[in-house]
Amino acid sequence: MVATGVIIAINGLNPLSLIALGMAGTIAIAHSVISKVSSKNGEADNPPPTIEIPTTGEFKIYRQAELNRTTASLLANGAILIAGEDGSGKSVLAIAVVEKLQAEGFLVAFVEPTTPKQMLLEIAHQFDIPVENLEGKSLTVDKLKRAIAGFLEENTAFLVLDDAHCCDVKFRMWLKQLRKNHAPMLLLATDPPRSDIFINIPRIELKPLPEYAIREIMVNAAGERAIALKPSELSKLQERAGGNPMLAARAVDEEYLGLDVESGDHRRYFDITPLILLIGIGFVIVRLIGRGTNDQALYIFGGIAAAVFMGLSRILYNLPRENQRIQ
Ligand SMILES: Nc1ncnc2c1ncn2[C@@H]1O[C@H](COP(=O)(O)OP(=O)(O)OP(=O)(O)O)[C@@H](O)[C@H]1O
Ligand SMILES: [Mg+2]
Repeated sequence: MVATGVIIAINGLNPLSLIALGMAGTIAIAHSVISKVSSKNGEADNPPPTIEIPTTGEFKIYRQAELNRTTASLLANGAILIAGEDGSGKSVLAIAVVEKLQAEGFLVAFVEPTTPKQMLLEIAHQFDIPVENLEGKSLTVDKLKRAIAGFLEENTAFLVLDDAHCCDVKFRMWLKQLRKNHAPMLLLATDPPRSDIFINIPRIELKPLPEYAIREIMVNAAGERAIALKPSELSKLQERAGGNPMLAARAVDEEYLGLDVESGDHRRYFDITPLILLIGIGFVIVRLIGRGTNDQALYIFGGIAAAVFMGLSRILYNLPRENQRIQ
């Protein structure tokens, strides 16, 4: 092509140079097509190396980035809140974090919400903190709190609290106190309120799992139930899961039981605000046409409709986004 350009520059634009340009273009296109095909064939010959996804217990960990970020933050004495909808895989991720830290030789207490005293006893037990005084009497809640706080100040140990949104407010205020003394902690919660400890520490919002992961979870779940799902059935079920692993497993269960479920329970939907704004703009154009053609009915109709749609889009735009909603 460059050579043809030089020929044209020298000879000017005559029929001969046009033929040369056409031939050079054809050769260039053919060359690029051939190179693309051959590179595709090359890929088929040498498939890309598959990345080995580590597993926790029975589950594969698809959220490697979140796992690494969380452990790094905890090791830097930080605190982190992982927020996600029900069944988004928080507990599976928490167990992966706990296993990773324990494998590196750190002390970790992993607790789930029960009564405050029970939780404190559980933490003390996992950290090997004595829960009785020298006279053999059980420590009170306040003394347990002090003993755990003292332990966390003197040792490198991590606190992991699953379903933290279910803990009572007093317990969360105690966590806030611990955090003031830089105790590293990981909290996991569904729709955590923007108050007390939840507002004090950085949060990671769990994104929906990628399609390949949901598909894999469904294929495994179907395999466990010994049912064969066609690719078309899988894609239909995948739609219902909306990136949520619990809903993915549930959709296969429903298929297994032969239940006819149409809609999904996931909470991710398209934002139609831009669409409403576009319709509003369309009616503004209709109004202008009405004005230009002196059609009064069109002018009035376009004006009213444009005002309604523009107003509606403004109201929707001002609503808080899902992750900023006050619970
Ligand atoms: N990596 C994974 N591989 C396969 N299945 C998974 C994975 N992660 C989650 N699941 C499925 O999703 C279900 C819910 O996961 P998990 O309990 O971690 O979610 P959660 O966010 O803690 O839920 P909840 O809000 O109810 O506590 C699991 O029981 C499992 O069936
Ligand atoms: Mg959970």
